[in-house]
Amino acid sequence: MAQLWGGRFTKETDKLVYNFNASISFDQKFFHEDIEGSRAHVEMLARQGILTAEEKRQITDGLDSILRDVETGALEITDEYEDIHSFVEANLIERIGDAGKKLHTGRSRNDQVALDMKLYTRNEVVEINNLLKRLLETILAIMEENIETYMPGFTHLQKAQPITLAHHMGAYFEMFKRDRQRLDDIYNRMNYCPLGSGALAGTTYPLDREYTAQLLEFKGATLNSMDSVADRDYVIELLSALSTIMMHLSRFSEEIIIWNSNEYRFVEIDDAYSTGSSIMPQKKNPDIAELVRGKTGRVYGALVSILTTMKGIPLAYNKDMQEDKELTFDAIDTVKGCVALFTGMLQTMKFNKEIMRTSAMKGFTNATDAADYLVNHGVTFRDAHGIIGRLVLYCIEKDKAIDELSLEELKAISPVFEEDVYDAVSLETCVNKRTTIGAPGPEAMREVIHINKEYLS
Ligand code: ARG
Repeated sequence: MAQLWGGRFTKETDKLVYNFNASISFDQKFFHEDIEGSRAHVEMLARQGILTAEEKRQITDGLDSILRDVETGALEITDEYEDIHSFVEANLIERIGDAGKKLHTGRSRNDQVALDMKLYTRNEVVEINNLLKRLLETILAIMEENIETYMPGFTHLQKAQPITLAHHMGAYFEMFKRDRQRLDDIYNRMNYCPLGSGALAGTTYPLDREYTAQLLEFKGATLNSMDSVADRDYVIELLSALSTIMMHLSRFSEEIIIWNSNEYRFVEIDDAYSTGSSIMPQKKNPDIAELVRGKTGRVYGALVSILTTMKGIPLAYNKDMQEDKELTFDAIDTVKGCVALFTGMLQTMKFNKEIMRTSAMKGFTNATDAADYLVNHGVTFRDAHGIIGRLVLYCIEKDKAIDELSLEELKAISPVFEEDVYDAVSLETCVNKRTTIGAPGPEAMREVIHINKEYLS
């Protein structure tokens, strides 16, 4: 049991208490960030004349050797230390003696852990952003290839109007683009350095907090030392953004599961991204999509958990806040895994264009356009709506599509119909005439693809 305190205690900590309190099993995840923060702190202390150049050299070399030895496996991070901060400091003192005891000058574990968590989170925000970029590139490639791949668009999971695969994919492009913008916002808002805030009230040493912030590539130093050690807003914001990413991935997964079903067969998930059944030999299951959908719950759980933890905490630091780590790490790892796997699944998925097209032709997805045809020939929209309603009923009875009826049959329902109706309600016309920006028409789609290509470049 190696801990950084004990002077005022007369008894050993109970072993159960020690274990309950310890965080090394999970905060070793930011070992690198802890070293990085200490290096910057020492650099600043020396510049301010609080440490000598020689002490700075000894400490920096010592930290480097600890980093090296952990990386090569020569030094193991074990649970004999309370947390990663104690591990580093204890090993430093063991290696360099008295100079090591000066590392913590003008610092508390409260601002240290606030810094480590921020550094770790900041890196992960960038990584997740990059993973999302690759997902967007994959979606955009599918869009470019499928400007004329017709499929039904749905509302209420009922066929509504024809669209294209490019258009459907484009909806997800916008969602993940917003997700990236949210991450950028979080990065910018969180990018202030808490180090130098001490336990809660700053320190009496002449620290140069701006310099430390600069060394660690922050935009500046935080402006209130109590807030600095008690702020976990950025964790909450990140978990909220991650929850939204998972919500998007989950919706997309749900659609792929439906599209991959025996009834739809719009897509075929690649063998490499499917799994079999131990009993039913014919099965090929969309497990990856299902797991992504399922894992959404645990990321939401992390968000609710940290919100609940933070709601009752008086200023400034309280140990409750140690609970931010495991769930944040888990949510980050979950999202990274899901985005990467989902991208791979999309890249290898086959789209059955013929089946999509046939499906779009059935189900009266051109009914609105048939009504618009009548409107263009002088019928009021409300009357046209009624006429086409009757027409659909007739088609259902005859088991035919609108454009499969003869002109006589059409005229029997409304004499306004002429030969040109077939062209007006064809799948191509229905889509191609929708040319306003954001609509599925090929011109509009090309424009959107162009804009989004610029965005990704
Ligand atoms: N492991 C602690 C945490 O994650 C480090 C800070 C400890 N500070 C303290 N005053 N006990 O929050």
